[in-house]
Amino acid sequence: MIQFTVLTLFPEMFTPLNESILKRAQEAGLVKIQFVNFRDYAISKHKNVDDVPYGGGAGMLLKPEPIFAAIRDLPQPCGRRRIILMSPQGDVFRQEKAKEWSEQEELVFICGHYEGFDERIRELADEEVSLGDYVLTGGELAAMVMIDAVVRLIHGVLGEGTSAEEDSHSNSLLEYPQYTRPADFEGRQVPGILLSGHHALIKRWRRKESLRRTFLRRPDLFKAIPFGVDDYPLLEELILEHEEFAAYQALWKHLRPLPKRRRKTSPHPQEKQ
Ligand SMILES: C[S@@+](CC[C@H](N)C(=O)[O-])C[C@H]1O[C@@H](n2cnc3c(N)ncnc32)[C@H](O)[C@@H]1O
Repeated sequence: MIQFTVLTLFPEMFTPLNESILKRAQEAGLVKIQFVNFRDYAISKHKNVDDVPYGGGAGMLLKPEPIFAAIRDLPQPCGRRRIILMSPQGDVFRQEKAKEWSEQEELVFICGHYEGFDERIRELADEEVSLGDYVLTGGELAAMVMIDAVVRLIHGVLGEGTSAEEDSHSNSLLEYPQYTRPADFEGRQVPGILLSGHHALIKRWRRKESLRRTFLRRPDLFKAIPFGVDDYPLLEELILEHEEFAAYQALWKHLRPLPKRRRKTSPHPQEKQ
């Protein structure tokens, strides 16, 4: 079970987490999501949580006292706890991060708002993470996205027989094309191999299409793929289908099969004569 604790001024924004798979995961006791409104920790009479920046400038910054007090008031962690600050200045959230977090016992998200937060709040966090290179009005949507990505990796959250391991980004590759019924939709056919029932060939086709798709859509990811020996023939085929692949041959050169040693054959008895 993973416990998510979200420090936010707007807990009502998180209602989407009470739908579908996330709802079922909570009902099944696989995850617990709780909210702390750090306005409750504001010390001023008017419960102010923000103030103007020293040195001037536009907007209001979250004050340190309420967030420090909210973190200090968290119960002792029952296991591994990570405190994560939502920030457009942090490391960009990726699938590997979701995987890493899915092995924690408690994740605490601090959601900023307004113009940002007092610099000293950064000290509270084990890490600072960004949803992407753009600026949101607050950390709530970013935290929701990250919670969703982590929850679906927790064992038992996806239905029996459903695996997150083949999803895009789980193994540096984009997922292969997927089809469901009908086999023929207005003349658009499902690739015959998928109807063949031949598991080994289907597996090969999928790997090849994943390699192709990653190369064509995300060359940045393609360069980081840990190719295996079985990829060698697929990549050689892809070179014939897309000339541009050839420029990357150095990436899998080490997988090239060694030329077969010629067996020393003794001359045919008749040749000796
Ligand atoms: C308007 S933003 C503040 C941006 C800040 N002035 C800056 O330039 O870094 C308000 C809050 O939204 C959250 N936020 C905005 N963009 C984000 C992103 N890309 N990823 C995660 N959180 C983000 C952060 O918690 C941030 O403190």
